[in-house]
Formats: sequence, structure tokens, C-alpha cells
Amino acid sequence: MKILVINGPNLNLLGEREPNVYGNETLSSINEELSVKAEKMGYELKFFQSNSEGELIDALHASRLDCAGVILNAGAYTHYSYAIRDAIAAIKIPVVEVHLSNVNSRDEFRKTSVIAPVCAGTIAGFGKYSYHLALDALDYRFSKEKK
Ligand code: DQA
Repeated sequence: MKILVINGPNLNLLGEREPNVYGNETLSSINEELSVKAEKMGYELKFFQSNSEGELIDALHASRLDCAGVILNAGAYTHYSYAIRDAIAAIKIPVVEVHLSNVNSRDEFRKTSVIAPVCAGTIAGFGKYSYHLALDALDYRFSKEKK
């Protein structure tokens, strides 16, 4: 089973970007650690990062063809992209919304997620472990579907 991990704008700069908020680890090291966990659980992870809204939408569309689920950190697009929201609603596979930081304890605008209502659930505030928890959440969902 394949799962696509999508990271949106500015997340390519993890490690150097506001380390007090987002930590010191790079996106590739976070992805590597997540891959090791996924492999043990029997999943194959694919990774995609883009700073462009359209490319994120294309990746969501493509995921429906060969993936069982998506882990999505849409970055700031979370807070205002109706186009990404519509792309999530258009595909039938579960999408878990992820944030490294606790978006509810930061700026007012970060408290709004326009994608949350069409996602399977949201995990925020646990740094890189937010991605791990999202993987656990998808695994739990798939195991329930089998029953
Ligand atoms: C983020 C939170 C967003 O508000 C912000 O724009 C990001 C990162 C997070 O992972 O905490 O780029 O999605």
C-alpha cells in the first residue's frame, strides 16, 4: 500500500526556517525517519514538496490513482486555499492534515483551516512526530476498513 506525503510552501527550508518554531531537522531527514517507520508497518511512502498551489493540486489528483491515503502539510495554503480544499474533496482517499507547530497557539490567521472540514482528521503541534501520528491514524483507519 502506498501513501503520499505532501509538503507545501516553505517546508523545503525546514532546518533553517524559524528553527524555534519548526525545529532543526531538514525535510529530507524527517522523511527518511518516516520511511523507516512506514516500511516496518508495511507501507511504501512517496514524497512530494512544492511551493506552488497548482503543483500541490496536481499531486493530490495523481495520488488517487495509486495511493491509499495522503499525509498533507499544506503550509500557509491551509489557511486560505479553497482550490486545495476542493482537490481534497474531489479525491476519495483519506487525507490527514498535518502541522509541525500548534497552529492554534500562534497567529489568529493560523487558527483557520479551510481544508480541515474535507480532511479525515488533523494533527498539529508535535513537530516531526505529527507526521508519524498521521501515519498511525491512516493505519488505524485502514485496519477499521478491513473489518
Ligand atoms: C505549518 C503551519 C502553517 O501555519 C505555516 O504557514 C507553515 C507550516 C506547520 O507545519 O506548522 O508553513 O503548516
